[in-house]
This record gives sequence, C-alpha cells and structure tokens, in this order.
Amino acid sequence: MSNQAASFYNRFSFFYPIIEVFLKPQKVKLMEEINTLASGKLLEVGVGSGTHLPLYQTHQITGIDISSAMLNEAEKHKQSDTILLKMSGEDLQFEDDYFDYVVLSHVLAVASNPEKLLEEVYRVLKPNGKVLILNHFTTNNWLRYIDTAFNSISGLFHFNSLFKIESFNAIKKFTLIKEVGFGRFSYFKLLIFNK
Ligand SMILES: C[S@@+](CC[C@H](N)C(=O)[O-])C[C@H]1O[C@@H](n2cnc3c(N)ncnc32)[C@H](O)[C@@H]1O
Repeated sequence: MSNQAASFYNRFSFFYPIIEVFLKPQKVKLMEEINTLASGKLLEVGVGSGTHLPLYQTHQITGIDISSAMLNEAEKHKQSDTILLKMSGEDLQFEDDYFDYVVLSHVLAVASNPEKLLEEVYRVLKPNGKVLILNHFTTNNWLRYIDTAFNSISGLFHFNSLFKIESFNAIKKFTLIKEVGFGRFSYFKLLIFNK
C-alpha cells in the first residue's frame, strides 16, 4: 500500500462529495447492473465515502479502502450486514476463489500498483466470478491528447489521466463479457469481465 496515497485520500475526503456529483450517474448505472446479478459475495475495492452503499440490494458486501477518513464516512452509509475494512487492493487478506464479484469503481486509475491490484482481484475471484470496472478510459480519438497532456501533473492528485485497460497484463487473464457506455461524449465506461 502507498502511505502517500492513503494520506492524500485522508486529506481529500472532505472534498470528495463535490467530485462525486460528476460520478453519481455512472455509479447508479453500475449499481443497476450489479443488482441484476445472482446473489453472492461481493468485494468493493476502494469503497471511498460509500454514499452508494445503500444502493446494493442483492449481495453480501465487503468494502475495503486504504484511507481511514474515507472508511469513517462510508461507515455512515453502510447497511447493517456490510463489512468495511482498512486494506489495500494490492495485498488482499482473503483466500483464493472467495468472492463471486469484485467492483473497481474509479480505483484502478488511482492505485499505486494497478497491475498488482488486478492480480489480487483475479486470485480472490471464484472461477467464473465477475469483475466490474467503472472508470474513465483514454479514447483513441483527439481526447487522448488531453489525457496525455494532463498525465504529467495528474500524479500530483494520485491518479493517472492516461488510462488504457489493455495496458495491464493481468486483464488478459479475464474475458470481457459486457461493455456499458454512458453516451457519445462520455469517456466513462463500465466493463464487466469474467474470470
Ligand atoms: C476516486 S476514489 C473512488 C471511490 C469510490 N469507489 C467511488 O467510485 O466513488 C478512490 C478510492 O480508492 C482508494 N484507494 C486508492 N488506492 C487503493 C488501494 N490500493 N486499495 C484500496 N483502496 C484504494 C482511495 O483511498 C479512495 O477512497
């Protein structure tokens, strides 16, 4: 786990409600997709402030985060059977083949070692389990120049503006089964992969 990333998110947590205004429509769609899936054990890595936790309807939820401040906020929104733990997605303290689903919502682009995080997700997912990845994705059109220009300073905010899912080796172990877009001009996408 990166202590710098944890302390950044501890300080950033008070500001996060403003960011969330822009992320909320996609997260509502993510929750709709998740709630259509058969009930099972679900791990959310980088649960953040957890304002979306009440929207989970079907699954047994475990949420983890490296930031205590984010987890304190998430405690206010969790349902009675939700488990919240301070833990890094890059070093999951769960046995192999444990979860039916893993949710990565705006976390892969901020993780210190996203490759390791994906390896860990693969390990803890049951065979045929699903990982749902909601993120901004750098496009192949002119918008990629904005991501490229911003990438050198985005590190100061602990995220990578240049984000291409195919750049991760670990993603090749999964099979893409569904892609949900959010309109022509949105560069957010929800990708659902099977182990
Ligand atoms: C941009 S916020 C996204 C929060 C939430 N998933 C959402 O969609 O609103 C990223 C969160 O991931 C957490 N995070 C960053 N790196 C992490 C890691 N390696 N393991 C677990 N959580 C991490 C941060 O502390 C922060 O709460």
